[in-house]
Amino acid sequence: MSYPYKIKSFEEYQEAYKQSVIDPEGFWANVADHFYWRRKWDKVLEWNFKDPEVKWFIGGKMNITENCLDRHLGTLGNTPAIIWEPNDPEEHHRIITYRDLYNKVCQFANVLKNNGVKKGDRVCIYMGMIPELAIAVLACARIGAIHSVVFGGFSAQSIADRIQDAQCNLVITCDGAFRGNKDIPLKSVIDDALMACPSVKKVIVCTRTRTPVSMLKGRDSWWEDEIKQVETMGNPPCPAEEMDAEDELFILYTSGSTGKPKGVVHTCAGYMVYANYTFVNTFQYQAGEVFFCTADIGWITGHSYIVYGPLSAGGTTLMFEGVPTWPDAGRLWEIVDKYRVDTLYTAPTAIRSLMSFGLGPVNHKDLSSLKKLGSVGEPINEEAWHWFKDNIGKGKCPIVDTWWQTETGGIMITPLAGITKEKPGYATLPLPGIQPILVDENGKEVEGNGVNGNLCIKFPWPGMLRTTYGDHERCRKTYFSTYDNLYFTGDGCLRDEDGYYRITGRVDDVLNVSGHRIGTAEVENAINMHAGVVESAVVGFPHDIKGQGIYAYVISEKLTHEPELTKKDIAQTVARIIGPIAKPDKIQFVSGLPKTRSGKIMRRILRKIAEGDLDNLGDTSTLLDPAVVEEIKRGKI
Ligand code: WTA
Repeated sequence: MSYPYKIKSFEEYQEAYKQSVIDPEGFWANVADHFYWRRKWDKVLEWNFKDPEVKWFIGGKMNITENCLDRHLGTLGNTPAIIWEPNDPEEHHRIITYRDLYNKVCQFANVLKNNGVKKGDRVCIYMGMIPELAIAVLACARIGAIHSVVFGGFSAQSIADRIQDAQCNLVITCDGAFRGNKDIPLKSVIDDALMACPSVKKVIVCTRTRTPVSMLKGRDSWWEDEIKQVETMGNPPCPAEEMDAEDELFILYTSGSTGKPKGVVHTCAGYMVYANYTFVNTFQYQAGEVFFCTADIGWITGHSYIVYGPLSAGGTTLMFEGVPTWPDAGRLWEIVDKYRVDTLYTAPTAIRSLMSFGLGPVNHKDLSSLKKLGSVGEPINEEAWHWFKDNIGKGKCPIVDTWWQTETGGIMITPLAGITKEKPGYATLPLPGIQPILVDENGKEVEGNGVNGNLCIKFPWPGMLRTTYGDHERCRKTYFSTYDNLYFTGDGCLRDEDGYYRITGRVDDVLNVSGHRIGTAEVENAINMHAGVVESAVVGFPHDIKGQGIYAYVISEKLTHEPELTKKDIAQTVARIIGPIAKPDKIQFVSGLPKTRSGKIMRRILRKIAEGDLDNLGDTSTLLDPAVVEEIKRGKI
């Protein structure tokens, strides 16, 4: 495949950027022209950030799977679409060509149809990282069902919340998932979740671990049996459903500063164009290269850069079931060597964790195939950046530090691999088509270079979220009401003297723990569910590996058990309610929380204490009870 919209030099970048600002519609129409449309659009864009209402490629008809599969069959039928590396290095890997993938997606799409799934229905997918997960995702898209993938590390309660919110009527899961030396009982978690989800009528269970599972008559069936049924029907074809450009493609839940996670909604055409455009340009993808993104498909990074970006570009995507540290910390490097990986896209937290094992696991691995490296999910510290550059990239691979969000659908600010001059810790420059601006607290634009501000985007791009599922007002309030006519990202940002962007971290109450977004309010609510807990306040603190750790201040009614045991119980409660990723790293019992006279918790102070910055607490005179701060300082862990 060729990519006529691929930028090949810094001069071309500058020119494309200029064009994209002067004539955004023309710019995106040029990119979109290189996809397969059943019917071309009538109008490129209609938008306002007030309601908000954003529509791209209006009147266009298409199906993303025809762009990811059908259109490649003639030329790439025998090319690997997915290379799958199992958790256990002793187990055989799988290579799925474009033709195989097409057949499997059509087959499973017919399974969904046999089970009554129709266009617009919501399907929850809770699976481990096996090819069937990608197949399930694409099968939904094939028939126009809206997929909602839930990460395998979330608890039954979190899944139930997500299923209820989206009113899913079918769930696709596995008996279990292998991750490192763990075997996660996915079906059993789903059984617990479904006790609270009457909307779900069917559960399809794919075999992976052979963990014993309960199979409820009338509701549960095996993936393999369902496939057999389609085979006995003679494997009929499954024509792709014709989708409107703005029909919903998927929902993906993510955390914000308040309340329960919200379902970010992406639509068919805009997301497709954007995932592809950002994939091809950021990573300078060339036909035939092997692209390895270590994310889980349960996160947006997996959606855009394991599934939709690479496949829509006819690329070869490597999907890894396990974790970077099992059976040892050389696993990623072994995979790079085994499949001659060209691009490795991972997260700073993984890099830091692997750094802690020293160079032993890296030495004697052949990493000579690597041409490009990428980082995503959180700010990358300079030490990790250099370690990655020197020891993995051997000084010759460009690193793209890609800033983006679930809501943006794809990469927004990033170097173009090998084209943009890089600077450690900097996401550098916006992609053509993206118009970032920095604003101060009052919403006034901060102009010029060498300035800090809150990062906003002032013009729509095709991959942006359209709404939050079932609650458009929440979308408006969260992203479009802080500043007039701007999309507010929630991130703080520095634009240095060179005009380069450096993301400094969230300015709202959202934590970024090992690249996972977690709302402080969510964790507090979960802690407060623990018997005896009166109130709690959660803040982040710097953590060597995770980037941020979770520090919880807890007021407890009575401590009947030993405090250390109670802390473990509280952590367990959080794991039950949200999932193990949200467990607090530190819990400090306190008798009160620093509050203003109006009752607001002064998190600034708690954050400082958690960071160990005890001498710079700032003004505490407005506190209701300043003495409480002294007590908290004394008890700091
Ligand atoms: C943070 C992940 C610094 C940021 C794709 C953002 C980053 C949040 C970077 C979105 C980066 C992501 N440098 N910070 N390169 N990439 N972030 O929705 O705070 O899981 O708002 O999307 O991660 O997290 P999300």
